[in-house]
Amino acid sequence: MFITFEGIEGCGKSTQARLLSERMQKEGYSVLFTHEPGDSPIGKHLRKILLSEPMDSLTELLLFLADRREHLVHLIQPALSQHTVVICDRYIYSTLAYQVYGRGIKKYLVDTIHQEILDNTFPDRVYLLDLDVSQALQRKKHHAFDRIEKESYEFHQRVREGFLELAKDNPSARILDATLPPLTIHNLIWEDIQTLFLHRRQI
Ligand SMILES: Nc1ncnc2c1ncn2[C@@H]1O[C@H](COP(=O)(O)OP(=O)(O)OP(=O)(O)O)[C@@H](O)[C@H]1O
Ligand SMILES: [Mg+2]
Repeated sequence: MFITFEGIEGCGKSTQARLLSERMQKEGYSVLFTHEPGDSPIGKHLRKILLSEPMDSLTELLLFLADRREHLVHLIQPALSQHTVVICDRYIYSTLAYQVYGRGIKKYLVDTIHQEILDNTFPDRVYLLDLDVSQALQRKKHHAFDRIEKESYEFHQRVREGFLELAKDNPSARILDATLPPLTIHNLIWEDIQTLFLHRRQI
């Protein structure tokens, strides 16, 4: 089972991914809680470059995709093959929302590279935490902003709309109102996860 969390900066992805991982572990599941970019040996270096150095949009896309490939091959695929539940903070949607909707890169380019590098590893469930851009950035105001968080309001707005557009057309996506309290969101996710697992067992 492969579950991903998506959404703009500060919408609550890490909070919900952590709550779900802890809940599943408590229920006895073996869980890998991971994130992009950065959760692989090479990814750690890529993350540092991606979040600090100014760069061309296509270079940025290729570095994010290199990080994804490393992450997939070294962490996600081995875990899935051991029947470990993988909970990943950001995945495919983030690239499409930020690089295609945010930066204006052609979608076919991202889709084509994804086709080659993902080995058909798509999430069983995508949770999109949807939140107003100002509210999201407000939540992060006590932290130093990284290179991407420093982008304009309009950029983040395009990214938010991109996420919503992507989720609308995908039956495995669930859009959640990220203004709700963290535990309320977690309980909605938990209810959904139970139906998902029940459904899988019946197949
Ligand atoms: N539902 C919520 N309501 C109010 N505040 C929240 C909620 N969920 C998370 N927060 C708070 O908002 C801030 C950002 O949350 P979190 O780090 O989970 O977001 P994120 O989507 O992972 O952000 P980033 O994209 O920067 O990693 C944290 O201070 C967190 O405690
Ligand atoms: Mg986070």
